[in-house]
Amino acid sequence: MVGRMRRRWVALAVFLLFLLPAGAFALNDSVARTPPMGFSTWNYFGCTGITQGNVLAVANAMTLVHAPNWEGKQISLKSAGYSYINLDDCWQAAGRNANGSPTWNTTKFPNGFPWLVDTIHAMGLKIGIYSDAGLETCQKFFGTTGHDSIDACTYQAWGFDYLKFDWCNVTHADSNQIACDSLYSSMGHWLIKADSLAYLADTAANKQHHRIVFSICDWGTYSPWLWGDTDGNLWRTTLDINTSWGSIYGNWNQNIALYSYAGPGGWNDPDMLEIGNLGTSTLATTRSQSHMDMWCICAAPLLMGNDIITMTAATFTVLSNREVIAVDQDSLGYQGRRIRTAGNVQVVVKKLLVHNPDTVDNKKYAVVILNNDSTAAAAGSIKWSDLGITDTSKQFRVRNLWLHRWLKSRSITDTATPGNADTTTLITDSLYITSIPADGTVHVLMEMGNPDSVPSVTSVRPQDNAAVAARMSVRGNAIYIPVARGTVQVFDMQGRQIASVSASQPGWYTVAGRGMVRGGTYLVRLATSAGSVSRVMAFVK
Ligand code: GAL
Repeated sequence: MVGRMRRRWVALAVFLLFLLPAGAFALNDSVARTPPMGFSTWNYFGCTGITQGNVLAVANAMTLVHAPNWEGKQISLKSAGYSYINLDDCWQAAGRNANGSPTWNTTKFPNGFPWLVDTIHAMGLKIGIYSDAGLETCQKFFGTTGHDSIDACTYQAWGFDYLKFDWCNVTHADSNQIACDSLYSSMGHWLIKADSLAYLADTAANKQHHRIVFSICDWGTYSPWLWGDTDGNLWRTTLDINTSWGSIYGNWNQNIALYSYAGPGGWNDPDMLEIGNLGTSTLATTRSQSHMDMWCICAAPLLMGNDIITMTAATFTVLSNREVIAVDQDSLGYQGRRIRTAGNVQVVVKKLLVHNPDTVDNKKYAVVILNNDSTAAAAGSIKWSDLGITDTSKQFRVRNLWLHRWLKSRSITDTATPGNADTTTLITDSLYITSIPADGTVHVLMEMGNPDSVPSVTSVRPQDNAAVAARMSVRGNAIYIPVARGTVQVFDMQGRQIASVSASQPGWYTVAGRGMVRGGTYLVRLATSAGSVSRVMAFVK
């Protein structure tokens, strides 16, 4: 009976597949609009420590409220933005069920996955799972080869929110870019289909789509940044990280070059965090902060890999710095660019979202200056020209994101703080930093004009709506509206309005319209105080 039902399911799935217009396979989800944040079991628990007890302890630690921070707020990792708890390798039973479906190790997970998933969800957190495109995972448990559909449907049925898909033990014939792309595409599409099938089968009145974040993990072997965006939400750009500075810096260095491939829904992934695993020396403490700065300026996924159950207050402070996390999670979704290198000192700039108007006079950047010298401190500077500003009469406000304060104005000298050497002078054409510690960073926010104030309607400058509309884009059933105070109306090709969305600030908005079909083409009208303009766009609902 069960077998017959499954066959019907598969037949229905294959039928639905043929209904899809060619080209409708663009990534269909509205997840991971900003880089995923959470915890992965691998770096700390490895293969043996991944158990129900440890996963629940991690979930508890994630929700635990700590002593008041610099803002006087009692926050938890969860309230700082971390939400996923990702099971990595070694959750599996010795083999699959007789019907081919995957199943968990019942000694490690006595209450089973549906229970575990429900429990984690009830704590307001999300949970991820792991598999491998090959015959076996890296730790020799069953891989997904030949089981994409049943694995995707099972993860969906269990309720998982995230899948990391590894690349160990693939056949020689699959060891090339085309095969790699197509194996990841297949799994990515099955994750979407599993959601569609579950949605169709659900009879609840308030049913909702449940998209699974798809993490591609071929370690950058076949340049997933070139094709991963169609299949997944993030892709590893490097080999595995470890606790050495060479590894942390090396992964970051490879990742930074790929800045142009990152954006909402598709992120470069230089691997999980080692913060908290680096020891307690002064150098290790400095490197932890640098690691955080380097990942955040790259808009990298922030997946903690340390023992968050017993971590020190200092580690919590680094992981929960909300000002630095805000740089990572900025909704514009730019990855920082290395603008300038002078000896061991590197300047990395990440443009941040500003409320309209985004003009030459109104800008916001995060800037990290890194001293990649493990023995000596160095001086460094951020020049206005690093930010593309040629008019040196412009003034910036500068905020140190670890000292949590605005530096005053020009020609001031701030007192250095240990591990955060930050004697800065704001001069006419640059911010000068007299001492960046060995392997250290200084992370500042630089604002020109008043980028955070939302202008009143009358002060909105006339804008070229056609140019603004050209910057709209669609992913899944979400649309990026690049203006503050605009309305988007969606019409079908018969001219009937089927949806409407108002923007209060630039960002991604979900479009829910009755009768919208997967891959359908619609007329999208953007209206602002400057008038309206229309574009034809394809949505995948
Ligand atoms: C590696 C992967 C690691 C971890 C490990 C588990 O291939 O890059 O992040 O998942 O497998 O076996």
